[in-house]
Amino acid sequence: MIAPSVTPYGTLPPASPVATRKPISLPRLNEMRERGEKITMLTAYDATFAAVADAAGVECILVGDSLGMVCQGLSSTVGVSLDTMRYHTESVARGVRRVQGTSWIIGDLPFGSYQASREQALHSATVLMQAGAHMVKLEGGGWTTETVRFLVERGIPVCAHLGLTPQTVHALGGYRVQGRGDTAEKLRHEALALQDAGASMLVLEMVPAALSAELTLALTRCHTIGIGAGHGTAGQVLVMHDMLGINLGKNPKFVRNFMVGQGSVLEAMSAYVRAVKDGSFPDNTLHAW
Ligand code: KIV
Repeated sequence: MIAPSVTPYGTLPPASPVATRKPISLPRLNEMRERGEKITMLTAYDATFAAVADAAGVECILVGDSLGMVCQGLSSTVGVSLDTMRYHTESVARGVRRVQGTSWIIGDLPFGSYQASREQALHSATVLMQAGAHMVKLEGGGWTTETVRFLVERGIPVCAHLGLTPQTVHALGGYRVQGRGDTAEKLRHEALALQDAGASMLVLEMVPAALSAELTLALTRCHTIGIGAGHGTAGQVLVMHDMLGINLGKNPKFVRNFMVGQGSVLEAMSAYVRAVKDGSFPDNTLHAW
């Protein structure tokens, strides 16, 4: 529904999705994809920013383990614990419920919370679902496929994550583009296997634009969400601190500062939603490999 709307954080421009939308669910995301509407995702880690993102019309809020960097000041996501993820997921869920209550919440399973066994993954996913997540995310292909199947069979929606997987940054040798040359075939194979295992969403991070567009067409039952992966994906995600221009470090090249020209965080998030939906973000010439 499109109309001007007043939120506790300010008034949204007329062309924004209004605050009266229905709660996002997997069937609603499927409907959006069928009508060619892009899915928007942003990270949030606390109640206030989550409520603003919800009011701005962001469909999916990812409680990302990037909180290790932006909230805890760590140098990577490797040191983030399950208990920390539970705390932030609970905070986000309370914020979303408090005002509008429509965003789909994804809890990130941190490093070390799902690698040991499928039972460990089920325990960790249960902690995040009971904290208020609607879906959990885990990184990697190959061995994770059976873990995804195990969780999905037990009623837990799963978002997979391929390409640059920050939890394995040390094994990958740094934050660099993945899926070029020979490794493209491995990524294709892993993505299809994750869909077959029941993953209903797949984050593609720092993957060549042509490959992520190709995967988006091939994965008819799994929504691709790109970050530094060009504009051919079913949706986009950004780390909130990056798109608000308040990242303590250097912003990756594919990020746009949506605060520029906006008067509030609500307006910046709303501008992000509009830019993803009208296809003006990301710009494939500036933000792809
Ligand atoms: O933790 C996170 O914020 C993420 C996004 C970069 C996709 O995994």
